[in-house]
Amino acid sequence: MTDRSWAGRSLTVEIGQVAHGGHCVARHEGRVLFVRHALPGERVRVVVTEDRGGSFARADAVEVLTPSKARVSPPCRYAGPGRCGGCGWPHAAPAAQRELKAFVVREQLQRLARLDVDVVVEAVEPAPLHWRTRMQYAVRDGVVGLRAHRSHEVIDIDGCLIAVPDADVSVARPALRSAARSIELESGDAGGPTVSVVDGRGRRQVVSGGPQRHRVRNRSFEVSSGGFWQVHERAADVLADTVLAMAGARPGESIVDLFCGVGLFTAFLGEQVGAGGRVRGYEGAASAVRDGVRNVADLPQCRITRAAIDARTVQGIDGLADVVVLDPPRTGAKKAVVEAICDLSPRAVVYVACDPAALARDVASFAARGWRLEQLRAFDLFPMTHHVECVALLLPG
Ligand SMILES: C[S@@+](CC[C@H](N)C(=O)[O-])C[C@H]1O[C@@H](n2cnc3c(N)ncnc32)[C@H](O)[C@@H]1O
Repeated sequence: MTDRSWAGRSLTVEIGQVAHGGHCVARHEGRVLFVRHALPGERVRVVVTEDRGGSFARADAVEVLTPSKARVSPPCRYAGPGRCGGCGWPHAAPAAQRELKAFVVREQLQRLARLDVDVVVEAVEPAPLHWRTRMQYAVRDGVVGLRAHRSHEVIDIDGCLIAVPDADVSVARPALRSAARSIELESGDAGGPTVSVVDGRGRRQVVSGGPQRHRVRNRSFEVSSGGFWQVHERAADVLADTVLAMAGARPGESIVDLFCGVGLFTAFLGEQVGAGGRVRGYEGAASAVRDGVRNVADLPQCRITRAAIDARTVQGIDGLADVVVLDPPRTGAKKAVVEAICDLSPRAVVYVACDPAALARDVASFAARGWRLEQLRAFDLFPMTHHVECVALLLPG
């Protein structure tokens, strides 16, 4: 603890490893600094941006004294200290970004699940630019842009390099209204983006376009505005292929798909198990359930039910579950749900995770019940940022 805040101080530090959350760790006078805009191994001058008096403070690297070999000149002119907070890693070469993500996944599994796992983060095209099909632009004082890191300031931008053309800020600007807090663009196969305005009370109104359609493998999925859909243009294909391969569902089997959204995995798993099998999807958001029911309407073996997923919901699932697929939000499934899944005694669990720490905690809960991590794949579905998507196959015994 310090009695005087370091905020605003300029310090020269050696940058250590990357941490979960994307910041790099440095140490100064016994305290930890979480540093943005730096890379492991660099010597940088930082300015402390936030110090709440605890064991750590936050800082931005403002001058690179000894650069890492992985450092590149950011392709985006809005990147850098105090500027756009959207992407954390445009100053790292794309291959280096994937290595940093692999380090974080490995380290989380090591620290939280006591597992040593070889992790390779696979690139997914389009990368590293023009992959993001959904954009949320912030609005303030007539400016439509992106927020600065940990700030309400809106940075005026004339384009975002990670967005697909249909989700460019120029498409959002005509929807500007005085009461708007944000303007959201969702692009798909519907022949133009869906544009929605969200006001200060969080009320959303579609300004143009309707539900989006997304073609994945041989099927088309309808998603209402505001409903969950993966943001990388190729994510749904990559994740569906991976889930299907890991699940290896056989004709006639019974599958449970938890946190099923609009039925992406439910539908393809339904095709795998065929008319003699069954797939039960569970999802909490009413509009996703409505979309999901329509999306699997041609597959009578699939059923999607609205449920707030907790241990009781999973305990209430009757009959056989040969495979459980789960794709929880960033917080993970948590111990009680993991235990209820184990009690269903499936032959395999396929876990799709957008947060490696939550995955590692849940893998530890599976391990406590005698389950092992059989396979792990990781995908760079969020280039230029620290985010990474993992798919894990867990087997009993
Ligand atoms: C990461 S998304 C996965 C959706 C789907 N598997 C896909 O890939 O399109 C997580 C989903 O879980 C739902 N969800 C989050 N928390 C939930 C809860 N406690 N109970 C039920 N559903 C929940 C969200 O509405 C969202 O659709």
